[in-house]
Amino acid sequence: MMVEIMLAAALVPQPVSMKTGTGSVPAKNAKVAHVSDASIPPEGYRLSVRPDGVTVASSSDAGRFYAAQTLAQLKEGDAYPVVEIEDAPQYKWRGLLIDDCRHFFGKEKIKRVIDVMSQHKMNRLHWHLTDDQGWRLDIPGYPELARHASVRAASAKHGTRPHVNMKNYSHLLNGEKYGPFFYTEADIKEILAYAAKRHVVIVPEIELPGHVYAALSAYPELACFPERLKGKGPLCAWGIEKDVLCLGNDKAVKFMEDVLDYVCRLFPGDVVHIGGDECPQDRWKTCPKCQARMKKEGIADVHGLQPWITRHFVKFLAARGRRPIGWDEYLLGDVPKSAIGMSWRAGGGGAGHQFLTPLECVKRGHDLVMTPRTFCYLDYGQGLKDDPFQYIGGKVTLEKSYAFNPCEGIPPELREHILGGQGNNWSEYTWNEYDLDWKMWPRACAIAEAVWTGDSKPGFADFMRRMETHRKRLISQGVNCAPLR
Ligand code: ACM
Ligand code: ZN
Repeated sequence: MMVEIMLAAALVPQPVSMKTGTGSVPAKNAKVAHVSDASIPPEGYRLSVRPDGVTVASSSDAGRFYAAQTLAQLKEGDAYPVVEIEDAPQYKWRGLLIDDCRHFFGKEKIKRVIDVMSQHKMNRLHWHLTDDQGWRLDIPGYPELARHASVRAASAKHGTRPHVNMKNYSHLLNGEKYGPFFYTEADIKEILAYAAKRHVVIVPEIELPGHVYAALSAYPELACFPERLKGKGPLCAWGIEKDVLCLGNDKAVKFMEDVLDYVCRLFPGDVVHIGGDECPQDRWKTCPKCQARMKKEGIADVHGLQPWITRHFVKFLAARGRRPIGWDEYLLGDVPKSAIGMSWRAGGGGAGHQFLTPLECVKRGHDLVMTPRTFCYLDYGQGLKDDPFQYIGGKVTLEKSYAFNPCEGIPPELREHILGGQGNNWSEYTWNEYDLDWKMWPRACAIAEAVWTGDSKPGFADFMRRMETHRKRLISQGVNCAPLR
């Protein structure tokens, strides 16, 4: 007889339906039979562990892969408990962001992140590859990106907070050259193959038109006022930089086209992230080229320039079979519905010049990936009693991450626009892989469960019970998972 139980198995995320029987099956010689069943939803699976063997039913390779992840977590000692599971995700976008610009983690760590996230049935690695402090992708025809834009003169010392708005922050820097750190085409292909095997789609992010200082320092002619960039390198401080791409300069537009064309040829995923956050308009206001562009294109004020370039790249990517995704403020102005938003300031606050709520985004017809900073920013403090690591600020406890609901505040008739959610590992104050793991796990376990189970999320107390075991599982794999409280 099968009974509903939630007591023994420590599965994360918890399957939508699980019934256990009595007894167990030795894992060693257990035969796993695979059945194709078109009635099972994409990424879903049915898993049956009985004394006579294990059966997995699915309609896709992803479902089969997720059944294998569940089976691995079910194993206790050398046996599987007798169990019947039916499972499928509520959301199709279940992601993590890694910021490889502020600090660089490298190929082996990226593969480890893919491995561990896929054990949690997460399927999107949002890879932040370009920013003011470093450009991490070798681009054919632009050799200075790998040579110059991937190296910065120094980095923040532990415990300090250098910021671009300070008059002088040189005393806060360590004076050590950081880089060259970048990925070659061969590196990317290796990572893509590794991710594909684990059903993780990589979403590369190329920031435009702001957060692009590293590239401008390599190619100053792409800025509104090139003389400001001459002799400079990537920034060593954090914050919002005013020197951005000159949208009046056809060469700057061509540069981004060349980069994105290469990205589309290299990355097979269906979407490309084009950034769009925190782009000050100060330089555009006084740049003769930007002013001429506005006149030529009939753009009434400077707010119209970013939507103009967004529209351009929506079309450019559509011609390559891709949709763009970008931070919520890139949807301000006249931007086609096919552009996907990534909502980071739900509930307000945060930096940047304007704010668009998730409800406003979906009312305009955009699909959205939710990554509200108050639930999903893994560089915010986690409220542990003893914590050796430095955080950017704010607070997101494990309980708060668990409370993440991507559809919060969205009426039922608009919820089809909510593709899912993700946790963001910004790395200004994350120096290395131990630091990264600590901030990511266990909060990313909570986010993984929130986006997989959705409306059937079991609750924080149940999650914590399973996490006691699951944390030990992660640590036994070498993951530097932080304590639960
Ligand atoms: C962001 O945190 N600036 C997207
Ligand atoms: Zn300009």
